[in-house]
Amino acid sequence: MKICCIGAGYVGGPTMAMIALKCPDIQVAVVDMNAARIAAWNSDQLPIYEPGLDDVVRQARGRNLHFTTDVAGNIKSADIIFVAVNTPTKTYGVGAGRAADLRYIESVARTIAQHATGTKIIVEKSTIPVKTADTIRSILASNGTGLKAQVLSNPEFLAEGTAVQDLLAPDRVLIGGERTPEGDQAVAALAGVYARWVPRERIITTNLWSSELSKLVANAFLAQRISSINSISALCEATGADVDEVANAIGKDSRIGPKFLKASVGFGGSCFQKDILNLTYLCESFGLPEVAAYWGSVVGINDWQKKRFAARIVKELFNTVADKKIAILGFAFKKDTNDTRETAAINVCRDLLAEHASVCVYDPKVPADEILADTLGKGHTNSRLTVAQDAYAACAGAHAIAIVTEWDEFKKLDYARIYAGMPKPAFLFDGRNILDLAALRKIGFKASGIGKPAE
Ligand code: UDX
Ligand code: ADP
Repeated sequence: MKICCIGAGYVGGPTMAMIALKCPDIQVAVVDMNAARIAAWNSDQLPIYEPGLDDVVRQARGRNLHFTTDVAGNIKSADIIFVAVNTPTKTYGVGAGRAADLRYIESVARTIAQHATGTKIIVEKSTIPVKTADTIRSILASNGTGLKAQVLSNPEFLAEGTAVQDLLAPDRVLIGGERTPEGDQAVAALAGVYARWVPRERIITTNLWSSELSKLVANAFLAQRISSINSISALCEATGADVDEVANAIGKDSRIGPKFLKASVGFGGSCFQKDILNLTYLCESFGLPEVAAYWGSVVGINDWQKKRFAARIVKELFNTVADKKIAILGFAFKKDTNDTRETAAINVCRDLLAEHASVCVYDPKVPADEILADTLGKGHTNSRLTVAQDAYAACAGAHAIAIVTEWDEFKKLDYARIYAGMPKPAFLFDGRNILDLAALRKIGFKASGIGKPAE
């Protein structure tokens, strides 16, 4: 059997590496039109940072895992073609700002239609609006070479930072297909690949539309939990309750559960906001404005939470941060990834720069040029925004420190040393609640967290 995956990004790369590792008899080709990205996958410096990924890639690469720009050749020879290209939010025309931009999906479908012959299984791995399989099928049907294609939906639920672990032992694998004998056969073939290492009872099969929709709904529910706890964090700050104590108390209820109740500066990442906006757009398209408004509020609270954090920094620094140095620790949207898509750090930095603060960022894995481009826009500069090589340099001489990403190394810093090098009063804002505020206050910091009682 041969597998081809179109798209060598955060989803396609790790997922195919795991399939190749677990199925040594299957040849897996990951193809991408971005030659630089393919070159990086073939080098010692992989294009994405993900704990444990180097090891998986090293074991399978060159054996049965290949990264190449030969899209057409691998489409021709593959039995199963995964589509793992990006589906960003549309920035133009109808649905701008909310609908998914399907141009990469469509272009891949056209490429497949152009080169594929015989019998193929096409697997949607990218997150897409429900009914996208219809579009792919229509394009493939126009190919005229007698291609017999079955389109399946197999959304990826891995989270960045834990991709290898999530792929190794997924809570479930979801496969949606057409409920016809040919569809069932294709579903069984794909299920057979995962069954090499995933217990059968964790492989769920559904109809196409349930599978497509489930991915959006799973992300909407996860994000909703974060916005729910973040809304309560504001109430905690107003009342003296402690949001971690509240989360712990409610999470012990087995109907609620303990996960995804961590109050924060706001969720980021390539999925939550994009998928909820996509969901609200779909709801409106199907004449359900009330449902759209309900889910839209999850994104609304998140935007507010990010603003609230930056506003609090300004307020506590006596309502002016002009020409004050503020250290931002962490820029990635969560720890253990170099991904900055939709990271709250962008909003926090922009809001502080708008107040004429001197913002100095440090992140262990995000390159300096990316931090500057994400915050200011490509090609723009602002002498107030700088990037430091380590946390100590970022904090030296700063009036305030803001923890934006929960990197483990921030827990181990010598805060007494940092405090000594700051003008007084020295402020610390823990946007992730990873530090011991009482200990910081003992050192002398004016320290506050999200949803934590004030000093
Ligand atoms: C998410 C889903 O978890 C995954 O199943 C899906 O396939 C893609 O989207 P990801 O965006 O990689 O994965 O990371 P996730 O761990 O879900 O975190 C998303 C954001 O929420 C991060 O900014 C994270 O810091 C934040 N978060 C998460 C919180 O603020 N509080 C929490 O309790 C959990
Ligand atoms: P994700 O997080 O969903 O994996 P990424 O943006 O990291 O998204 O990766 C998507 C990849 O898909 C990119 O490397 C991009 O170059 C690739 N891609 C997009 N369209 C095509 C196409 N038509 N042919 C080949 N590769 C494509």
